[in-house]
Order: sequence, then structure tokens, then C-alpha cells
Amino acid sequence: MAEFRIEIVALSDERIRPFLDKVRDQATLSYVCLFVGDRIFYVQRVALALDVATAEVIGVGTLAPTDEMGSGGPTIIGVWVVPPARKGGVATQIICALATESERLYEAPASVDALSPGGIAACRKAVALGAHLNVREHTGHRADLK
Ligand SMILES: CC(C)(COP(=O)(O)OP(=O)(O)OC[C@H]1O[C@@H](n2cnc3c(N)ncnc32)[C@H](O)[C@@H]1OP(=O)(O)O)[C@@H](O)C(=O)NCCC(=O)NCCS
Repeated sequence: MAEFRIEIVALSDERIRPFLDKVRDQATLSYVCLFVGDRIFYVQRVALALDVATAEVIGVGTLAPTDEMGSGGPTIIGVWVVPPARKGGVATQIICALATESERLYEAPASVDALSPGGIAACRKAVALGAHLNVREHTGHRADLK
């Protein structure tokens, strides 16, 4: 597993759009579920996971001051990690960084709707590492996100 670091940036950061285009091309359902419409409209801050050696983006997580309906408190909306970098702790560190950013910027813990088995596991891991998060686990559906 390559060494990585997390950087928190604004949604306007020039590295984000090309990465989301890659998600759209590789995993259309994830792109639609996590990164379009209301889900991106409210986003203010993005955690980028960067390969230390190449500076390539290997994962993202998005944070909004509200949920996708424009109500509620800060919300982590979409997390996606490139398949070759999975199961190496990238999503866990993205979620931990966004939890810290939520408390810094919005002075409130973030909520997250965990949709996939991997998303649920990464949120549980982040909480176990001390992240302050309100995790809502959605286990009723059968399809995993790619
Ligand atoms: C879900 C996703 C973000 C996880 O990313 P990741 O970088 O592999 O996650 P981590 O390495 O931080 O894993 C954290 C924990 O979750 C577990 N985990 C990861 N993927 C898993 C999966 N698909 N099923 C079950 N557990 C999983 C890991 O084993 C790890 O647990 P451990 O520390 O006890 O071994 C990634 O698989 C992905 O982008 N999936 C498609 C989009 C998606 O589902 N996003 C989340 C929506 S809520």
C-alpha cells in the first residue's frame, strides 16, 4: 500500500473535477449516488487522499454544512477510493479528517449516512479511532457500490 496523506481543500480545487470524472467513468452508480445534484451542491470542503510519491488523488470525501435537503447539521456526503488503494485505511483517514474539519469549521460533529458495507465499516473504524461522528447505518439494501 502506497503512503498517502490527506489534504482538506475547497470544492473549487482544480484536482476534484478530473477525479470525479474518473469516478463517473469507472463507477457510474457511485458517481450518481454520491457526487451529483444536491449531493455536490451543498459541499464546501473536500478531503483529498494523495499518493505521497506521485501526488495522484486516490480518494475523496465531501463535507457540507447541511444535509442534501439543506437542513440538519454538517454532513459527510460522498466518500470514494480508487479500487487499487482500497482496504489500506484511506477512507478511514478521509472520514477522520472530515470529522475534525466539521468541528473546526462548523463547530458541530458531522453526520454520515453509511450506505455500503465498506462505507459502514470505514465509519465504524473512524469512530473507533476517536472521530466524533453521528453515523446512520443503512443496511436494508442488497447492492454494494463499486
Ligand atoms: C467504501 C470505501 C470508501 C472504503 O474505502 P477503503 O479505503 O477501502 O476503506 P478502509 O481501508 O479505510 O477500511 C476501513 C475498514 O472497512 C473495512 N472494509 C473496507 N471495505 C469493505 C467492504 N467492501 N466490505 C466490508 N468491509 C470493508 C476494512 O477492512 C477496514 O476494516 P479493518 O480496519 O477492521 O480491517 C471504498 O470501498 C469505496 O470507495 N467504495 C465505493 C463507494 C462507497 O461505497 N462509498 C461509501 C458510501 S457510504
